[in-house]
Amino acid sequence: MSNMIEFLQKMPKAELHIHIEGSLEPDLMFKIARRNGIRLSFASVEEVKAAYRFDNLQSFLDIYYDAASVLQTEQDFYDMTWAYLQHCQEQNVLHTELFFDPQTHTNRGIEFEFIINGIGRAMNDGKQTLGISSLLIMCFLRHLSAESALNTLNQAIPFKEFIIGVGLDSSEIPHPPEKFQGVFERALEEGFLTVAHAGEEGSPNYIWQALNLLKVKRIDHGVRCIEDPILMQKLVDEQIPLTVCPLSNIKLGVFEKMADHNILTLLKHGLKVTVNSDDPAYFCGYVNENFFVLHRELGLNRQQAIQLARNSFEASFLVAQEKQRLIDQLEKYIQVSV
Ligand code: ADE
Ligand code: ZN
Repeated sequence: MSNMIEFLQKMPKAELHIHIEGSLEPDLMFKIARRNGIRLSFASVEEVKAAYRFDNLQSFLDIYYDAASVLQTEQDFYDMTWAYLQHCQEQNVLHTELFFDPQTHTNRGIEFEFIINGIGRAMNDGKQTLGISSLLIMCFLRHLSAESALNTLNQAIPFKEFIIGVGLDSSEIPHPPEKFQGVFERALEEGFLTVAHAGEEGSPNYIWQALNLLKVKRIDHGVRCIEDPILMQKLVDEQIPLTVCPLSNIKLGVFEKMADHNILTLLKHGLKVTVNSDDPAYFCGYVNENFFVLHRELGLNRQQAIQLARNSFEASFLVAQEKQRLIDQLEKYIQVSV
């Protein structure tokens, strides 16, 4: 292992953009399908992996929602989340903020309570036995109606203490943030923080809408901000974080190849960018593989890596004291690994 790869591997970091359903690896998918008596349309793990070739966001989402239908019991949600948290431990992810998509499951008749209890119990065990802190963000599927999102918000109210914020994901075009303004207003009144996927496939206008109408604290992806200099300036001035997902962006054709990715350009401009895996089981890598590819293909250096890790803690929704505790661990790591 090269020095830099080892440095990246061991570097303390946070992950802020991970869809927990996107962490479901094919072998666990088969195991869960078997115990739930579900027949998958794939014959083997190899066949599943071979199907993971996507042209764009929609072609991925079609397979992704289909795969998520194996999840039925509280234990299924637990096992998926626990497997992800073990990856976090292996990759020195000290803190993670997980997205989940309740509508993918409640629309199939799965109780909201099972979903949240399964994920929540694993998060709790993650803290107790692995020392990894985590927060949960509930995403609305933007291809569904605002009314469905509002119903989902209402279902979440009894579980408010387990959910730090709400987000917006799924097919970005043609579902602009303004479609969900009313729902996000209600969520803000209930005390949820807000984030949204914007500027992944959608134009910079989607990012403006997420900021101005949904009052988001972070933009998920946001890489198309580079097309709008006024927006870029605002993101720098207000240090609004972008949760960027390099491997995802290549797999879904947002950039043709890694050499074209703009993450380091955004970093140089002073934006608060972070590195994340998005859907690690589908895009060939967890957060560290994303760091490694940035080093290999964009020449990510040590100082840039440290900045990205520091950003990941600063951009998190942890309270200030907890953020500082994790940043101190990063600083200590930097000192001992000179
Ligand atoms: N759901 C899971 N991954 C997603 C992505 N990259 N964009 C939008 N919705 C998603
Ligand atoms: Zn995402």
